[in-house]
Amino acid sequence: MALTAKFVKTQELLFELRVADVMRRDVITVRPDQTMTELRRILRDHRISGTPVAAGDELVGMITIADLIAFLNSDEEEALIGDKMTANPDSLFSDQLLVHAIQQFDATRFGRFPVLDPRSRKLVGILTKGLIIEGMLRAMEQAFQEEEIRQYRASHIFEDMVAEYKEIYLTYELVGRDFDRAGKASTQMKRNLKRLGIRPDIIHRLAVASYEAEMNTVLYAESGVMEFRIAPEEIVMRLRDRGPGIADVEKAKQPGYSGAPEWVREMGFGAGMGIPNIIKCADRIDLQSTVGVGTTLSVRIFTGAGANRAGDEGGGT
Ligand SMILES: Nc1ncnc2c1ncn2[C@@H]1O[C@H](COP(=O)(O)OP(=O)(O)OP(=O)(O)O)[C@@H](O)[C@H]1O
Ligand SMILES: [Mg+2]
Repeated sequence: MALTAKFVKTQELLFELRVADVMRRDVITVRPDQTMTELRRILRDHRISGTPVAAGDELVGMITIADLIAFLNSDEEEALIGDKMTANPDSLFSDQLLVHAIQQFDATRFGRFPVLDPRSRKLVGILTKGLIIEGMLRAMEQAFQEEEIRQYRASHIFEDMVAEYKEIYLTYELVGRDFDRAGKASTQMKRNLKRLGIRPDIIHRLAVASYEAEMNTVLYAESGVMEFRIAPEEIVMRLRDRGPGIADVEKAKQPGYSGAPEWVREMGFGAGMGIPNIIKCADRIDLQSTVGVGTTLSVRIFTGAGANRAGDEGGGT
């Protein structure tokens, strides 16, 4: 069946919907003893192209604009709806799954179906393709909202954890000059933080800082360990590398300062913006280095509700 077979992802949604969820309840009906002239006025006034014919709340037929046109093209002066309607029309039950209703639309090509209560068999609504579309859009909207709420809850993951200390650690090993892997640790960290439902702006800042730091280690050092501690109020990145170290840390923090050798510049690095970028993204940074031993960088980003940007202060922890 066309609709549901094509749109696999909406199927699940569709299976949760019943006719009663999307049908229109305040049905305009006409009586079999009304005239076709009256029908003409009713269809025009309500801008509809067909309507159920009911005796009380008993469905007795369907009458459409096609029936009206046929009548107007005949030489009859007047006629009763009861004589021109389709008697015993196809109908749906309000508790039917919407998918089945859609199948019925596909199979018959009717534009609308009257809906009956499955027990009393009384007319309780009407279903059109337009109402199906509207109902599905509403269901999708709701599904999106639920997804947003789910993500929000995930970002409060720590509130649901019962423990004295609530921390998650992610550790990545870095290898100097390994340009196949360069940047991968930051990418993986980013993916994990998304899964944890961390706020996108926080992830973005951390990813920039982490990428710049990872590249520096890969370019300038022998090896390193990059560790992320994710706690309820903050995320701390700590990168310890073994390598030549930085002789003048304050200088290295200056925008535009680079000690990058020629081969590094040839690779497109060496603008001297890496560390300044890290400082911009961080709430706190601490950069320590010992020449001939290595460099330790720690970057702190506050994630709590009152997360306060103090990025460019770049002060110690
Ligand atoms: N982990 C490290 N070990 C040794 N030296 C480093 C390390 N990180 C940075 N440096 C030194 O500090 C300088 C400044 O680093 P920064 O990341 O700000 O700029 P860059 O790497 O030269 O250029 P860019 O990051 O803009 O490509 C580097 O050129 C390098 O000399
Ligand atoms: Mg750099």
